[in-house]
Amino acid sequence: MFKKQYESHETVSIIFEGKNLDVEIGQTVASALLVGGDMVFRSSVVSGQPRAPYCMMGVCFECLIEIDGIPNQLACMIPVREAMKIKRQQKNKE
Ligand code: FES
Repeated sequence: MFKKQYESHETVSIIFEGKNLDVEIGQTVASALLVGGDMVFRSSVVSGQPRAPYCMMGVCFECLIEIDGIPNQLACMIPVREAMKIKRQQKNKE
C-alpha cells in the first residue's frame, strides 16, 4: 500500500504500544508506523471509532498520537528519534 521514496541504512529504535521497532532515520512517526502496518493511531473522541492519518501534511489532525507522554502530537510532522515512546490516543472511558 505504501511505497518508500528513498532507502536509508541508518535506523533508530522506537517503542510503539510497548513493542520495539527499528525504523529508518529521517522519516516521520506516521510514515514509520504505516510502513510497519500499524494503521490505527487514535480513537475518535466523539464515537470512539479508530482513526488513521489522512493528509500526511499537518492539516487534518487525524494522526494525533501520544509521544513520550505528551498527547495530541501530529505524527505526520514529527521525525522519529531514538527511544521515542509512542502510544495510541484512546477516547477516555467514563
Ligand atoms: S495526517 Fe493529517 S495532520 Fe497528520
